Formats: sequence, C-alpha cells, structure tokens
Amino acid sequence: MGSPDLSVSIGAIRMKNPVMTASGTFGFGREYGRIFDISALGAVVTKGVTLEPRAGNPPPRLWEVPCGILNSIGLQNPGLEAFIRDEAPRLAGCGVPVIANISGDTTAEFCEIASRLEEVPGVEGLEINVSCPNIHAGGQPFASDPESVYRVTSSVRRATPKTLIVKLSPNVANIAATARAAEMGGADAVSCVNTYLGMATDTVRMRPVFPRVFAGLSGPAIKPLALRAVWEVAAAVGIPVVGIGGICSARDAVEFFLAGARAVAVGTGNFISPTACLEIVAGIRSYLEERGIRAVADLVGRAQGAVSGNAGGAGQARSGCTQ
Ligand SMILES: Cc1cc2nc3c(=O)[nH]c(=O)nc-3n(C[C@H](O)[C@H](O)[C@H](O)COP(=O)(O)O)c2cc1C
Repeated sequence: MGSPDLSVSIGAIRMKNPVMTASGTFGFGREYGRIFDISALGAVVTKGVTLEPRAGNPPPRLWEVPCGILNSIGLQNPGLEAFIRDEAPRLAGCGVPVIANISGDTTAEFCEIASRLEEVPGVEGLEINVSCPNIHAGGQPFASDPESVYRVTSSVRRATPKTLIVKLSPNVANIAATARAAEMGGADAVSCVNTYLGMATDTVRMRPVFPRVFAGLSGPAIKPLALRAVWEVAAAVGIPVVGIGGICSARDAVEFFLAGARAVAVGTGNFISPTACLEIVAGIRSYLEERGIRAVADLVGRAQGAVSGNAGGAGQARSGCTQ
C-alpha cells in the first residue's frame, strides 16, 4: 500500500490533510510562520475579524486551570480593512487554504464582512462565529436560538459564494438543533465546538478573576464534552463536521474522526506545542499506515456505525442513564 490519502474536502476547499488551526490560537499565521512552514497544514483559520478594529477586554485575559485555559480576549483584532490590506495578501502566498473567522454584532455586519471578502484572493472560506452577542436580540449570542442561526447563516449564504462554515457554540441546550439550522441556512460545514462558558474566582481578592466574570474554557479539559457534541452533530446533519476541542495529539484527532468529524482544528494545543499540528498530521499518517487503512476519510463516523442499532445516532447513545 502506498502512503495513505490524508486529503479531505470541506465545501469547495480541498485540504491536503485534515488538520487546521482553530481560530484565535494561530493569529494570522505570522508568528507560527517563523517556526514552521505553514503550507504543511490542511488549512489556516484566522483570528476572528470584525468590521471595525477591536481593542479587546481589559486584563486578565487568560487564566490557567487544570488541563485547560479560560480566555476572555474580547475579539481583539485589527478590523476588516487592516486584515484585507496587511494579512490576506501575505496569507494568500503561503500555499495553504485560508478560512477567515468572522464575527459581527448584527446579521448585516456579518453580511458586509462576507461580501467585502468575496473578492479577496487567498481567502477560500468563511467561518462564522455565532457565539458572539446579537445586539438585536438583547445581546444574546446568535447561537442561543436555532432560528437566529438560520437567519444569519442564510443571509451570509446569499452574500458569498465562498465555502461557509458555521462555528457552533456548545453553550446551548440542543447543539444538534443549532447544527440543523446552520445546514438548512445553507452552510457547507459546521465546526464544533467553540469554548465552554466557565469562570474562576480569585480567592485573595475575593472576586471573579475576569472583569466580565465568565470566560471561555478550552484545552484537554473539554475534549470529552466536545467529542460528545461532535457525535450528536454528525448524527444530525449531512454536511461535514470539523471537530474542535482539546485536540493535542493524533490519537485525539482520530477519536474525533471516528465520532464523525471530517477534519479537526487544533486550538489550545498550539499553545502547549507550537508544532502540534505538524505532529498530529504525522501521527494520523502513522495510525493509518499501521492499520493498513487507505484514507483518513475511511475513519469518519466509524464509531457511530459500531454502536449496534444506532440508526438514530446520538438519540440511541443518549437514551441510557449515565449514573
Ligand atoms: C485565546 C483564544 C482565542 C479564541 N478566539 C476565537 C475567535 O476569535 N473566534 C472563534 O470562533 N473562536 C475563538 N476561540 C475558540 C477556539 O477556536 C476553539 O474553538 C476552542 O478554543 C476549543 O478548542 P481547543 O480546546 O482546541 O482550544 C479562541 C480560543 C482561545 C483559547
């Protein structure tokens, strides 16, 4: 058998391998580009870009917890114009598909960003961050209601022909319903998951660590939670799922493929080892070679099929009491 086929497609984006970066943990690839050749990645997902520049939240912004970090960055970014002028042209020459992660306060803002990115060379796809607050819904995240996920997805769909990924929030009662709303709205894929809401309390100052109280939990601490979310979502939709949450090794990535992810994104793992993505690509190749598996695509959803009588996918898995 020759070398296994690691390539996967997400919408119109053909990736040489299934490993991408998770938004906000790789900047715009500048710093990591000094450490390794980023063309070895399946795709680069950028830091969240907003219409106007954002300064982000006051410190502290990061807080280490066992097996993870809490972050409250507040979407610090240079804004769309600077992204188009300073980052996109450089990224376009890097030999790797670029997916711009975008955030907005309103559906109209998402659409404006999407249409202004339409002509930008090198940006092959958009990932819309529906975890951000919708000012027309009293600041509730878009993700908190499948109807608003449908509205923002279908509006952005009309604004761009580029590959459209909807990044799901795990902080909802029914993530499968949100995923279905994204699919119905015309998303080419969903990425799953964003950070889990958590908090930390400062026992010296006797107050919350973060000025905004709640922060997003990421890293190995969330891996089993994210895996379950991917399982549920993969059983609920027909579009590809990008698995995200605590992936630090090839074995973690393979767990997500078996649960139904077509590709994976590495976030906090990049902070632990800046070359984590490369090691994960190499480890996936070895895993396939050792087992004589021809292609990474052959792993996708295999564990779902292994659960006997799992016609309803997640429904079946959820039916038993876990205590
Ligand atoms: C410091 C930091 C910044 C992040 N910024 C963004 C962002 O701008 N947009 C977004 O959609 N997700 C953002 N995320 C969420 C990650 O992309 C990812 O979904 C989450 O961290 C879970 O993956 P992980 O456990 O591998 O880190 C951020 C995460 C971290 C840790």
